[in-house]
Amino acid sequence: MMFKAELGIEGLAAKVGLKQIHILIGYVFVLNLAIRLFAGFMLPGKNHWRALFKRNNANQIGPYLQGMKSETPPQYLGHNPLGRLAIIALYLLLIVMAGSGLFRAGTDIYYPPFGAAIQTYLAADDVAPSSIKPYDKTGVNPQKAELLAPIKSSIGKVHLYGAYILWLLLALHIAGAIRQDVTSQPGTISAMFSGKKYLASPPVDKYYSRSTP
Ligand code: HEM
Repeated sequence: MMFKAELGIEGLAAKVGLKQIHILIGYVFVLNLAIRLFAGFMLPGKNHWRALFKRNNANQIGPYLQGMKSETPPQYLGHNPLGRLAIIALYLLLIVMAGSGLFRAGTDIYYPPFGAAIQTYLAADDVAPSSIKPYDKTGVNPQKAELLAPIKSSIGKVHLYGAYILWLLLALHIAGAIRQDVTSQPGTISAMFSGKKYLASPPVDKYYSRSTP
């Protein structure tokens, strides 16, 4: 857990407590992500995912960059092709963060959804799995703990570096949105608040348009 030393909390209770807080917030995040994925893929009328995946996005990046140099840059109701790439990357990364976080929640403090299975795996013979405690080797089969350790460590690295990449992508995505607002499509950002987009010319992504289903 980051900033432990900086916060001056070295004790086991503090270590577990910080993890609990991060994991509880993590559950809210996972629920939010699951709802978004469900809504994007499943609900009728929600066409965001089709817009992201089925529009031959890669082929549109070249013409988009070309168009940005013209006097009349292309206008978008949804994301521009580079923005769509960012969204796909961000969602993939969020899925990786959710999976690796939930796994470490299970290995570190035996929290759901994997905690009980990990306790069952780790418990020594004749020991009730639910009786083994975080950061306590009592009742733990040492060979199994040794087998789990490198997997736990690798997944932890994925989670840590995933967080760095996520922050980098977020910064790029926000910079891209500001750039679009300033250079080619004023109102991109205010549309996030008002729900209304100002467009200098008809949008190139007609898929979103109400008149063309
Ligand atoms: C986008 C969402 C998330 C971000 C940005 C994030 C970020 C981080 C960071 C930076 C660390 C410190 C890693 C280290 O020092 O090695 C960490 C650790 C941890 N996270 Fe997350 N996390 C996210 C989601 C989750 C979720 C959903 C869960 C579980 C419900 C979770 C569970 C954990 C656990 C158990 C640790 C401790 C692992 C260790 O000590 O190495 N995280 N997280």
